[in-house]
Amino acid sequence: MTPHGPVIAVDGPAAAGKGTLAKKLAQELGLPYLDTGLLYRAVARLALDAGQDPSGPAEHFAEHLTQQDMARKDLRTPDVAQAASKVAAQPAVRQALVETQRRFAAERGAVLDGRDIGTAIFPNADVKLFITASPATRALRRYMQMDGNPAAPDAGEKLAEMEATLKARDAADSSRAAAPLQVAADAKVIETDHLSAEAVLALALAYTRERLGS
Ligand code: CDP
Repeated sequence: MTPHGPVIAVDGPAAAGKGTLAKKLAQELGLPYLDTGLLYRAVARLALDAGQDPSGPAEHFAEHLTQQDMARKDLRTPDVAQAASKVAAQPAVRQALVETQRRFAAERGAVLDGRDIGTAIFPNADVKLFITASPATRALRRYMQMDGNPAAPDAGEKLAEMEATLKARDAADSSRAAAPLQVAADAKVIETDHLSAEAVLALALAYTRERLGS
């Protein structure tokens, strides 16, 4: 199935700002946007709700995933992120979600963010971006996203904890056998430690337009 429109893959480690960028990129280019992390988070949520260990077989949940499962408001919690990484390591879970992701882009193209979009889901994507930042920067961003106060007395402790958790999840995502997190050979890497969200968007947009010749 060849998509009838450009496919833009935005990959990278946890809390690097992929979602923020991919959403704005999609708006600017008039393309549909899919946060593929939500697929794995929704599968993990269903496994947890069923009282199941997320490392146990979870493809059943992936095969029957609905729009409502994806629209749940309780998918962005740290425990769901941890569980998502565990279900995402299962080849049968990933396999069950491949077609959903490819179909999403089939009609008009799309911007998709995740871990394996440019390497496994769309190896021929028109544009591949790899968005990254140091663990300390990513921990601070996720802390702020979750309404953490950097001036709070326990902020240092909370940030160190968050950084350790993100690093452990990245290590698991990068070392799994099934579609690990890795930089595609033809991806444009953007290090975002010292860049604002607007600056990242400007860079990504310029690169994308150049690649698409638009
Ligand atoms: O928002 P954050 O970067 O923290 O995580 P996410 O993108 O929502 O992804 C949650 C977990 O799902 C990741 O740690 C990966 O294990 C998994 N995932 C994946 O394996 N492949 C994708 N395309 C997207 C997410």
